[in-house]
Amino acid sequence: MPGNNPDFSAAARWLAARTPRERKQRGQWVTPYWVCEAVIDRLAADLPAQPTIVDPACGDGRWLIAAARRLPGARLVGYDIDPAAIDAATRTLAAAGVTARLICADSLGERVQEVADAVVGNPPFVRPQHLPRDEAAALWRRFSVATDKSDLYACFVERALQWAPRVALVLGHTFLSLVSSGALRRRILASGLDGVFTLPQSTFDAAVETVVLLCGPDDRREAGQITASGGVEVHGTLHVGAEAWSTDGPLPQLPGSLLGSIASVHMGIVCGDYPRYVHHERRYPEDRPTCRGRDVRPWRIIDTDLFVRYLPRDMLRRKPYVAPKHAGLFDVPEKVVLAGTTGRRLVAAVDTHRRFPMDSCYVLHPRADADPWGILGLLLSREVAAWYGTRFGAPRVKGVEVAQIPIPDPPWTSIAAAARAEDEVGLSTVVREAYARTAGR
Ligand SMILES: C[S@@+](CC[C@H](N)C(=O)[O-])C[C@H]1O[C@@H](n2cnc3c(N)ncnc32)[C@H](O)[C@@H]1O
Repeated sequence: MPGNNPDFSAAARWLAARTPRERKQRGQWVTPYWVCEAVIDRLAADLPAQPTIVDPACGDGRWLIAAARRLPGARLVGYDIDPAAIDAATRTLAAAGVTARLICADSLGERVQEVADAVVGNPPFVRPQHLPRDEAAALWRRFSVATDKSDLYACFVERALQWAPRVALVLGHTFLSLVSSGALRRRILASGLDGVFTLPQSTFDAAVETVVLLCGPDDRREAGQITASGGVEVHGTLHVGAEAWSTDGPLPQLPGSLLGSIASVHMGIVCGDYPRYVHHERRYPEDRPTCRGRDVRPWRIIDTDLFVRYLPRDMLRRKPYVAPKHAGLFDVPEKVVLAGTTGRRLVAAVDTHRRFPMDSCYVLHPRADADPWGILGLLLSREVAAWYGTRFGAPRVKGVEVAQIPIPDPPWTSIAAAARAEDEVGLSTVVREAYARTAGR
């Protein structure tokens, strides 16, 4: 009955039968039904009578039920790669009295074709490293939006835009700003961007921030939010910048050249076997002091007496895909260490203890005569935080993103001095002056 929540108990049985690894590889999470209802409601006004609606990753079919209730007479099609999901959808739709064509197939398959009025749903979020290697390589060859470390959901957006003029999909918030999603943003703009609407942080049982992307030829470029009580609410315009989009006002701009041009950014040691190589207290002659992202705080690294048994050849022999790096990257009097899992804030310190940081950190090496304290001051300044926070609100910072930070022209003597003194207020003044000087050059 319209207005009543359908019986979704088949989804619980389907997901309980999957291991956590299977769920991760297939991006299996269900969408709260109120999201499906709110999005379909918003889409309905733009659709012809009795439209064809496709969900390319339908799970238990809940988006199709919302579509059937809001759009009587709609022709409904659902794909899922997992037979157990299709089984759950068959039961769920039958119980709700909804008829749809359900297809158990890879909707990214080369031969799979649809012509629809709208594609809706919540495609799987899967980072390429969690996909089987051959599968990822083939997809990254076939889909133009799959570049670098973009997420699998990017391929679903490209596919959806091949099938229909209108698309409403749940995506990760980071696609708005990550460098690796640049090709996806350009593809969306080419088809028409109706809006981006943020979902409450608690929408999914996971630490991922999500938005709903609406594509359509009207190209309205709205920004807003979707809530359980208010549905889709428009708050303003989406700011579409060359290198990022923003739902909350214009992106702060900073003049300057890229940090990557004056410093190299390296991930810490990927040893492939933490228990074997990392331990407390010095035990072996090849032990080097190390740190993890969680030990890095603004200005300083907390000493936890953690050591890495630094045997790069041994690490590589045991696991050829690891990246132990080389000692020259770490064994230096001063280098900047950045916590790699910092969310919206940059957290960094200058290491003067010749630590060999692990892979939850990045190590920044100034090129030529750039001062690591100057780099630290910039990374911890309010100006860079504001710029960075709106662009890279990612749960995990990537080295390539860090390298994009615009830095002012030298000299940075006063920035380095304020950083050495941990003078946050003074730092903000000198950093602002440095950017103003660079803007007026
Ligand atoms: C995030 S879940 C969404 C399920 C449902 N649409 C919902 O919103 O509750 C993603 C779904 O995509 C399916 N899936 C993953 N890869 C797929 C592929 N290549 N083709 C079709 N379905 C796929 C998964 O089995 C899973 O059911």
